[in-house]
Amino acid sequence: MDPVSRASELRQILEHHAYLYYVLDKPEVSDSEYDKWFRELQDLERDHPELATADSPTLRIGGPPVDGLKPHRHAIPMLSLDNSFGHDELRAFDEKIKRFLESEQELEYLCELKFDGASISLTYVDGVLEIGTTRGDGTTGEDVTHNAKTVRGIPLRMRKPLPGRIEVRGEVVMLKAAFEELNLGKAERGEQLFANPRNAAAGGLRQLDSRLTAARKLSFFTYGVGQVDLNEGRRLADTQSAVIDRLKELGFASRSESRAVVGIEQVIEFVEEIHRVRPTLPFGIDGVVIKVNSLDLQEQLGFTARGPRWAIAYKFPAEQAFTTLNRIFAQVGRTGVITPVADLEPVQVGGVTVSRATLHNYEDLARKDVREGDVVIVQRAGDVIPEVVGPVLDKRSGDLNVISEPSECPECGTPVFRKVGEVALRCPNRSCPAQIAAKLRHFVGRKMMDIDGLGEKLIDRFLETGMITDLPSIYRLRERREELIGFDRLGELSIDNLLASIEESKTRTLARFLFALGIPSVGEKGGQDISRELRTLDAIRTADYATLMEIPNIGPHTAGEVQEWFEDPDNHRMVDELIELGVAPIEGEEPVSDLFAGQTIVFTGKLERFTREAAEAFVAKMGGKSAGSVSKNTSLVVAGPGAGSKLQKADQLGVKVATEEEFLALLPEGSL
Ligand code: IVH
Repeated sequence: MDPVSRASELRQILEHHAYLYYVLDKPEVSDSEYDKWFRELQDLERDHPELATADSPTLRIGGPPVDGLKPHRHAIPMLSLDNSFGHDELRAFDEKIKRFLESEQELEYLCELKFDGASISLTYVDGVLEIGTTRGDGTTGEDVTHNAKTVRGIPLRMRKPLPGRIEVRGEVVMLKAAFEELNLGKAERGEQLFANPRNAAAGGLRQLDSRLTAARKLSFFTYGVGQVDLNEGRRLADTQSAVIDRLKELGFASRSESRAVVGIEQVIEFVEEIHRVRPTLPFGIDGVVIKVNSLDLQEQLGFTARGPRWAIAYKFPAEQAFTTLNRIFAQVGRTGVITPVADLEPVQVGGVTVSRATLHNYEDLARKDVREGDVVIVQRAGDVIPEVVGPVLDKRSGDLNVISEPSECPECGTPVFRKVGEVALRCPNRSCPAQIAAKLRHFVGRKMMDIDGLGEKLIDRFLETGMITDLPSIYRLRERREELIGFDRLGELSIDNLLASIEESKTRTLARFLFALGIPSVGEKGGQDISRELRTLDAIRTADYATLMEIPNIGPHTAGEVQEWFEDPDNHRMVDELIELGVAPIEGEEPVSDLFAGQTIVFTGKLERFTREAAEAFVAKMGGKSAGSVSKNTSLVVAGPGAGSKLQKADQLGVKVATEEEFLALLPEGSL
């Protein structure tokens, strides 16, 4: 047989057996037979480089390192899910959905395993894998195509190519067996072990050298689709379960445990069943994901800022372990709150090594009566910080040290205090070094100002040497470039990279800026809520209590904190200083997609499906602008019944016009 035909035959054989193995879980040949074909193809491609293709199974072994991981903006954001714990929270979810749909009929749910790995989005064009990206912050991920190609459950080419473009989403996981094998090898070589399969999978996906990813033997399971823009339409099927079935036909692995059930009581039966079999599964899961099965209903339900209304994650109860508590120390946070933290004898809790755990506050510590030297129960629930549940009194022996609350800040010696009605103990000293360090760490964080290269250690070194003293001084580092070179053995390149990311951080959204300031009680969501309503920094700074109270989701406590924070002269001065140094938060909402990037859309006439404000907010969310009048720069006019002069103008200027229905059809499924 000529090499061209043989190479193509070998690829078909290898793909077929990979499908039997990874998707159907029914291998028909041994590993060594598979390897024999694989080597034959490798040899052929080596001798005839012109035969190599972009989707050859030989790519699974990886290739030379790439320069860096490029950011990739998701066409549709990769959202996360609300969590639920316990059966009653599932029942509440079911009731909320029925209320929303104004229906009393039992709903069909698809229950899936909640894989504990790293999410990935895979874009196929005409059936060929084109891009693989991580989730990142949900809006922007990293291009890891080179690594995705090494993951055997990810088809390089679909079994039945679909004309058009489709984004397949799912989780990359490391099987327990692969994890053990990997760690065994590491132990033998005296290398540091991976803490858990999730970290090993997520880290594996982000390698520059895809040969290292290949060596981790990762697996992939699909759980849905993102953007669908196929010749056949915008949907693969009408239900979530049928979508998964079609993905399986196309060559994507999923899990047979998934089950479509009717009514929430059957969901509860399912989660309990999965909880029982969890230890026997070949990979880690941290719960079950419950999705409304009908895609029509999913569309009706839509999304909140956090995630879909039509799905929820059910998390299994926390995992616990016993260990010895060596020491209790006081940690000072960014708002001056002093938290007792336990130093533990390292212990595995639910697959993760834990050596520190929080004791929440001194009242809690006194109530639990945990002492240094006690054997304690440690608990971890999901991604939450591990906590000490309490001592095992039977195991207590001898006189153990009782830790009472400090009267002075352990870092700066200032007498501590409590706010009326709070349990938290606080250090009142704004110049407390521990507080400043924590504030800085928060400010530069990924979801805040996102300053790359300014990690914890460097912040500490900058503080020690007085290079930075407060938030504004970060933006004065630029003036000290010469001094910085050689500081802590930092090279010119890393200094310039650092300075560049500091510059770049000057134009984050107002929502992020508010979160970054570290105003007590204002988190990511709070920053978004406040900036969405009040829109400008000036309006926020001068808002009175009543104005703040009118903001949806902002209660009396947060309103008070915000007002108090901005009224404080020191904070006032600091914000002024940041602005003088060029920090210019972008006012308006952060777009979550670039569907309408660079486009200006005008709405006119009556809209049926949403209010004018909601429509405009939606366009902004999708990266576009809306305008009140039509000009030659208008990209699209959406005209409802009763549209008049604007529609005429559009016709005159030859601007594209769409009905509300047509506009809705432009939108990716589920984006409303
Ligand atoms: S659906 C908008 N299904 O859990 C719906 N997610 O908390 C998005 N995950 O980032 C996700 N198993 O990486 C879905 N069967 C499953 C899942 C699953 C694991 C992960 C996923 C996501 C996170 C959400």
